[in-house]
Amino acid sequence: MFKLSTLFRVLFRSEYKYLTILISLLFSYQSIAQALEQNLSQNVSQNLEQKKANVDKEIGEQFFLSKNCPPSFELIYSKANEQNVCLLVNQYQFYDSVQDRGVGGTQTALPKHRDGFTPQQIDLGRYLFFDPLLSKDGSISCASCHQPDKGFSDDLDRSIGITGNKVARSAPTLWNVAFLDKFFWDARATTLEQQAQGPLFDAKEMGNTPEKLMQSLQANKQYLMLFKQAFPQEDELTLSQVYSALSAFQSSLISLNSRYDQYAHGYAKALTKKEIAGLNVFRSFVARCAECHQPPLFTNNQIAVIGTPEPKGNTFDIGAEKTYAKLNNAKKLRGGFKVPTLRNIAKTAPYMHSGRYDNLLDTVKFYNDGRGNAVPEDQELLLHWHISEPDLTDDEMASIVDFLGTLTDESLSPNVPDYLPSGLPPIDKNYATNNGFNLEKKKESKNENKSKNKIKNINSKGE
Ligand code: HEC
Ligand code: HEC
Repeated sequence: MFKLSTLFRVLFRSEYKYLTILISLLFSYQSIAQALEQNLSQNVSQNLEQKKANVDKEIGEQFFLSKNCPPSFELIYSKANEQNVCLLVNQYQFYDSVQDRGVGGTQTALPKHRDGFTPQQIDLGRYLFFDPLLSKDGSISCASCHQPDKGFSDDLDRSIGITGNKVARSAPTLWNVAFLDKFFWDARATTLEQQAQGPLFDAKEMGNTPEKLMQSLQANKQYLMLFKQAFPQEDELTLSQVYSALSAFQSSLISLNSRYDQYAHGYAKALTKKEIAGLNVFRSFVARCAECHQPPLFTNNQIAVIGTPEPKGNTFDIGAEKTYAKLNNAKKLRGGFKVPTLRNIAKTAPYMHSGRYDNLLDTVKFYNDGRGNAVPEDQELLLHWHISEPDLTDDEMASIVDFLGTLTDESLSPNVPDYLPSGLPPIDKNYATNNGFNLEKKKESKNENKSKNKIKNINSKGE
């Protein structure tokens, strides 16, 4: 016999079960959101506190190196180094993935990275990075071309060095360089220490010599003291300490707390519908962007030949073919460049090794214009197989650009020193006047690009 009361009891019980599940889901969602928010505000207030402490420290030209790690790092005793060192702590470290590389979904692990420097080494590196004393005539620092407020790049198609002329390529961002194993667009350096010697001693960049750099540092009482604090176990100041401190500072430039990251860690509301749509196009096997720009770093740390154009009048840049010239198959890498990270990409226009594209939409259009659309006729390039004919709609391209905007996170921006041990003025002002002159040139090249794009639209093979 059918009993109404039994039915009610069963219904009520199952409904009760669903209700509990629903409530617990709501709670866990809320606590994830709260945790993320707390994390963010903690970072910000930590950053503010540190900024204040550093200003106090620098007043009076007495320089002390920080005893604290930058935010996102923890001070931990290292047996190997017999001292306290800064180790990165990040939520991605809780995720596993195939080969520990960024293959797979949003919750994938990070590749190996550099850390384990002391707080003093990182802080010394910060002074060195901003100090024009490192250049031949005290006119230009690393920060001239890698400016913190420009995504650690400059806003030039190609950087301007000590001679006032443009160098061969565009300045890449330095955010997350700790995770890279190759440096420069053509991958010609394999460590940050090796990389630093490039700009320091290049006649077109900082124009210095190892001898002169040593002399300037040794003649500076502040630096002698600071190097002693950063490398207490070593007897005297050496060039390798300079490279080491610069590497320490650059390895602390971590950008992994963008809105995209909050989304990746489970906070669905961090992105808008359009941005999620953009992420989906980006990861799709139609656009294939994520095959090379793999999350979470948005690079797979490899070299790819994609056939981007040079600025008008420039000879073809063979890229990685030169780096690997001794290998049998170096020809395969003709026109190959390192896949750049897309972190903070909205901050680092113009784009590509040659700074050829002024904005992100033009950059995405390059991929959509079809395989080999910009390859000069006299060049035979082995384009990467993921470079295809995606045929994206205007909406899809716009959504990719929206999505790329969610990769911005500068919450761990280091403090720009108010005073430098060399007593030289902060470099950015000097460089800005240089730029003032060159901005005219930049505008010219912008117009040049525009008319070129027009030509390209008429004739898709025309480069
Ligand atoms: C004149 C401008 C200029 C100065 C000064 C300069 N750089 Fe660069 N930097 C560049 C350019 C341009 C590139 C790319 C060059 C290439 O790939 O051939 C680059 C590349 C790099 C890279 C490689 C990044 C990557 O993703 O491969 C690092 C790291 C770097 N610079 C750090 C430094 C440091 C440290 C200093 C100071 C010692 C410095 N730079 C000074 C313009 C500059
Ligand atoms: C086959 C690998 C590959 C694929 C697929 C790929 N890229 Fe790239 N991407 C690169 C390489 C290599 C560069 C640098 C090329 C150069 O400078 O000439 C680059 C450069 C860029 C840049 C400029 C970065 C900078 O710092 O200047 C952006 C933006 C970009 N890609 C977005 C995308 C988007 C969006 C897609 C999908 C439509 C995509 N990429 C697909 C390899 C790839």
